[in-house]
Amino acid sequence: MTEPLVLGIETSCDETGVGVVRGHTLLGDALASSVDEHARFGGVVPEVASRAHLEAIVPTMQRALDDAGVTLADIDAIAVTAGPGLAGALLVGVAAAKGYALAAEKPIYGVNHLAAHVAVDTLEHGPLPEPAIALLVSGGHSSLLLVDDLAAGVTPLGATIDDAAGEAFDKVARLLGLPFPGGPPIDRAAREGDGASIVFPRGLTAPKDLARHRFDFSFSGLKTAVARWVEARERMGEPVPVAHVAASFQEAVCDVLTAKAIDACRERGVETLVIGGGVAANSRLRALAEERCAKYGITVRVPRPKLCTDNGAMVAALGSHLVAAGVAPSRLDLPADSAMPLTTVSV
Ligand SMILES: Nc1ncnc2c1ncn2[C@@H]1O[C@H](COP(=O)(O)OP(=O)(O)OP(=O)(O)O)[C@@H](O)[C@H]1O
Ligand SMILES: [Mg+2]
Repeated sequence: MTEPLVLGIETSCDETGVGVVRGHTLLGDALASSVDEHARFGGVVPEVASRAHLEAIVPTMQRALDDAGVTLADIDAIAVTAGPGLAGALLVGVAAAKGYALAAEKPIYGVNHLAAHVAVDTLEHGPLPEPAIALLVSGGHSSLLLVDDLAAGVTPLGATIDDAAGEAFDKVARLLGLPFPGGPPIDRAAREGDGASIVFPRGLTAPKDLARHRFDFSFSGLKTAVARWVEARERMGEPVPVAHVAASFQEAVCDVLTAKAIDACRERGVETLVIGGGVAANSRLRALAEERCAKYGITVRVPRPKLCTDNGAMVAALGSHLVAAGVAPSRLDLPADSAMPLTTVSV
């Protein structure tokens, strides 16, 4: 029996994504981004994002189907991000998915965007061994999760108590005069710098913090430390060594993320670490995770950078996993839930 053909729709933030997956194989993927329209504001403007989704959704859908060489009639199930994310942006995707599901008489799955960031790795590395620890690092979230059964739910072990990792990249990039979103330009600038040149703080790693926040993160103190350091240089009339600051900031983030992820694997006796979300595209994070996990016999799985940031393939991947696990579809009146908890994988 051939595996079901699942289409995934993603509109939770500023990327309109549609992907088509059969089993663990990505057949087609299309993306339209409104990122350039937000750049001058230094962050995503919700209303601008919603309007851009509305314009992009139908053509993006068609491009993904064409890319996969299938038609809507061939699709076995439609998955859509139902949350968390920007309310207006989510609504566009959910309404579109309902329209297509109703018109083509297909089952619909309203899924969690964050679980999809974890599930996307199956398109690259096949079924996820369970239990696994997932390090989810994106623009809005930074969490460590225990994944016993991705179709049923995940167990949060810890999360950021202030800024998300991606948010820290975006804010520090702004301080350094680099464009939005800040992750990619910091990653590039850091290659010319020395990550050991400036010692920035590692949030929630002191023994007194570990007692209460062993698997939690904090990046706002780091961001402030970078701001103070840059201001001090400017006050002295000295040029800011952007590459060194970028590399040292990046090192501080990656050091904490990998150390806590490995600690979680060891505490739970888990041998697989999967990293997902936009920050998983970071080259230093990928290298450091590989290097450190190898020492403990932990296998690291990180999808290719293009699959780390928001896309439709990740939603299709999670949908495909749910269909294979025999999870019942959502009701056609499923809501968009901007604050959907991490523990809800599908509605
Ligand atoms: N190479 C990179 N290094 C570091 N950060 C990166 C890199 N590429 C992208 N990012 C960061 O990833 C974030 C975007 O990731 P993603 O699209 O998963 O977030 P989001 O969808 O906005 O948030 P969420 O998934 O929490 O709703 C941005 O903050 C961006 O700066
Ligand atoms: Mg995301």
